[in-house]
Amino acid sequence: MLRQLHSLPGLIAAILLAALALSGAILSADPALERLATTIPAHGQISVAVLADRVTQHYPNVEQIQRTPSGSIIVYYSQGDRTGADRIDPLSGQGIAPYAPSAFSRWMKNLHRSLLAGTSGRAVAGVTALAMLVLCLSGVALLAKRQGGWRHIARPLHGNFSQRWHAQLGRIAIFGLLLSALTGMYMSAATFGLIPDGMKSEPDFPTQVTVGPAAPIATLPALIATDANDLRELVYPRPGSPEDVYSLRTAQGDGYVDQATGTLLSYQAHDGVRSVYELIYRLHTGEGLWWLGLLLGLCALSVPVMSATGVVMWWQRRRSMPKMTNNSGPQSADTIILVGSENNSTWGFAKALHDALVQIGRRVHTAPMNLLATEYRKAQHLFILTSTYGDGSAPQSANQFFARLDKVADTCRLDFVVLGFGDRQFPKFCQFAKNTQDALLARGWHQFLELNTIDRQSAQEFARWGQAVGRLFDRELTLQYTPQHPRTHALELISRVDYGAQVGAPTSILRFAAVAPQGITSQLKRLMGFDDLPRFEAGDLVGIIPSGSPVPRFYSLASGSKDGFLARKFHYCCREG
Ligand SMILES: Cc1cc2nc3c(=O)[nH]c(=O)nc-3n(C[C@H](O)[C@H](O)[C@H](O)COP(=O)(O)O)c2cc1C
Repeated sequence: MLRQLHSLPGLIAAILLAALALSGAILSADPALERLATTIPAHGQISVAVLADRVTQHYPNVEQIQRTPSGSIIVYYSQGDRTGADRIDPLSGQGIAPYAPSAFSRWMKNLHRSLLAGTSGRAVAGVTALAMLVLCLSGVALLAKRQGGWRHIARPLHGNFSQRWHAQLGRIAIFGLLLSALTGMYMSAATFGLIPDGMKSEPDFPTQVTVGPAAPIATLPALIATDANDLRELVYPRPGSPEDVYSLRTAQGDGYVDQATGTLLSYQAHDGVRSVYELIYRLHTGEGLWWLGLLLGLCALSVPVMSATGVVMWWQRRRSMPKMTNNSGPQSADTIILVGSENNSTWGFAKALHDALVQIGRRVHTAPMNLLATEYRKAQHLFILTSTYGDGSAPQSANQFFARLDKVADTCRLDFVVLGFGDRQFPKFCQFAKNTQDALLARGWHQFLELNTIDRQSAQEFARWGQAVGRLFDRELTLQYTPQHPRTHALELISRVDYGAQVGAPTSILRFAAVAPQGITSQLKRLMGFDDLPRFEAGDLVGIIPSGSPVPRFYSLASGSKDGFLARKFHYCCREG
């Protein structure tokens, strides 16, 4: 259930998530870049009155002064019939550069907010934020399960390349992604009016103003009392309109300022809802919190990688799940195979056993351990093939097995055997298989073969176990399990040294190198390092796939990648003939 909750939104929204995360990561650099180019005066150093006075000296026809959340001061002005906007230095009031947000940045914002698709795009972006929240929560729960509990969540990670990178990036980026998802959902809900943002409560335009000559801006008390860092926007009155007023927006509230007396009119302080919205806006965009923006951007960069590795993992799990043929019903089968698996590789072994048993005339029913029936009317034998996951725990398809086992009537006990799949690198090797065996024995089930364990999906160990089962049934049981190979490399023999024959211990050292690439593409791949042999050290195992068999044979190595060749020492029990 947890896995479906994680995979389904992940697969559906993978591309959208990657697009939103990448655009978010790019946008996250904006506040930091803006902050780098901005001088922010100390608190209490400059009032809005002083700032406006300095601005007026350089821009006599100023219409509006704005302060961005990152602290840049933008002046909008007119010159004849032309209007313009400049970014200015708050300490001198002098222009620094024309203010024109780049077309790229606008496009990126549009992509991030609405996927370039207007209102419907905004709705999709909101739903994608919800999908991200679901993925974060289900992902952490899966990670805890994978690691064997919350206490072990920081332990080193196991699994293949995609599994490790998916979990590692998730572990690093989880808090940033959670924050982006939650704040993104909030902002989306506010855009669609689903929750209030406090923006609608505007102060009333003053009905009474003092009609008289406008006082110099530097002397207006309401502007003297406002710190420049609290300014959001100051809109000037229309020139030559004594009945007009300054419109002032600050971090704390909005109001109007009488241009003759400088009194604050119809002031309305921001309510809690507005303050919450502004805080969430800053937490999401990093505006005014440039370091947080960069952190969130870095976290967002992990999303495309996690989307890709997530899809690869889903595909690997799907590919490992074989199609069972001749699968009899549970009540008509004489042999039951139950499978406990997390990443589906145990199912490949179960299929080999299933096919071999069908071959010797058995009617076999194969199912996940979680589907243990309360009764199998015709069955005599039960095979349980199970892996172990987390820190000695049940894999996904077996996590309800014990609860179901309690519901099986005493009269329905079968003769059973458990085969455990695990990895000796884990301290609790095949622990769940052992627990399963103990649980069945404790309930009085009869075991027809001792528990066996298979380390790292060894096809050889599995074949040997098959022979033992065959002997019990007085039949030859050939288990043809074809492991899925990782990418293979063709090797060529570059030298051979024989010695030790005189002392009766004939030994050969064979040195191999990767076959020289043929064709332009292969040569280019080799040059770029894509087609090189993986790194190895003396003592590592190399799997060689012999001709005529899909099962690799493992040999330990006598050289490392630094030597530039792969050396294997062969000791012969008898002289080569
Ligand atoms: C995250 C993780 C945790 C594992 N924990 C254990 C363990 O505690 N004990 C063990 O013997 N094997 C452990 N294994 C190894 C698997 O049981 C083994 O690779 C098995 O063949 C996987 O089968 P499956 O793909 O059907 O789940 C673990 C593997 C992974 C990826």
